[in-house]
Amino acid sequence: MTDIDLPPFWDPESDDVLVCRAVRRQTHDVATFVLTAAQPRRFRYRPGQFMTFTVTIDGVEIHRCYTLSSSPSRPDSLAITVKRVPGGPVSNWLHDHLRPGMEIAALGPTGDFTLDLSHDAAPEKYLFLSAGSGITPVMSMARHLVDTRFDADAVFLHSARSPEDLIFARELAWMAEQAPSLRVRSICERDTPQNRWPGAMGRLDAALLAREVPDLRERRLFVCGPDGYRASARALAEQAGLDMARFHEESFDFGTLATQDPEIPAKIEALDAARHKVSFTRSRREIECGTDTPVLAAARAAGMRLPASCAKGMCGTCKCRLVSGTVEMKHDGGIRQREIDQGMILICCARPTSDLVIER
Ligand code: FES
Repeated sequence: MTDIDLPPFWDPESDDVLVCRAVRRQTHDVATFVLTAAQPRRFRYRPGQFMTFTVTIDGVEIHRCYTLSSSPSRPDSLAITVKRVPGGPVSNWLHDHLRPGMEIAALGPTGDFTLDLSHDAAPEKYLFLSAGSGITPVMSMARHLVDTRFDADAVFLHSARSPEDLIFARELAWMAEQAPSLRVRSICERDTPQNRWPGAMGRLDAALLAREVPDLRERRLFVCGPDGYRASARALAEQAGLDMARFHEESFDFGTLATQDPEIPAKIEALDAARHKVSFTRSRREIECGTDTPVLAAARAAGMRLPASCAKGMCGTCKCRLVSGTVEMKHDGGIRQREIDQGMILICCARPTSDLVIER
């Protein structure tokens, strides 16, 4: 097949609908959704990146980010691997409703939690640390390494609550068989009467790390999991003497986006010579916002609760229609140019340059 016969690449500027092709159960509460474009497309992204999905539940449009568990080395489809979250509307909706043949709106891929795969980059040794459904971006990285960098030295330590909660266990074992330079270890907090766990038990700690990864300081670390897990991995890496420039963690926890507010700069009042009026049409609120302050930050400071996830212009969660006024906006992939042309803005990274009216 020549290049001419291959489908074009997915272009987030013009493509925005994915079609579910398969749902694969991973554990009792985790499933993988395999997605392709509506028209034949290939996908170009870096392992570890995420996409923002939009679903409408009870008439309300909700945006959520999920990291891709698939590898760009298999470019004809994408996959997200999602855990049911108690009270998590989108995760549960995906489990209960998304079936083969159905469409879902998606934006991206984007994100900077990713391997440097430039061809002139020196070969590196990796350590992937994940807990729970935090396994998805590092699984994408491991799959990619096994597919493309055949002798990349990587250690993959995954922590789960119990053997029944191990995601991708069989595939990881198979990958390690195919690629002897990949070492996989799973750690279970406890076992269950049905499933005795023969491997390491408990939590990731210094003794286990020293035993499994004696050369930790020579490795580049990628860590993904809940906040507490990442904090403890960071402390352990520091304690082991790692140059922390080699430590990478998922900067926000996709699992808790629904309930947590992103970090908003605190010192708003110190800034801003000029201030503008910002009116929100649906909530009928009016606030003041300085020219150096993102609209979201000013709204939060005024006590408004508005949907937002990354607060960095990446995820698209805070997208709103700008009814009137002008803003200065430096985003990071969370909005398409055509959406900007249609009057949409990301309020987490839009600073007013006049009075604003925003539909929200
Ligand atoms: S909160 Fe992510 S783009 Fe604004």
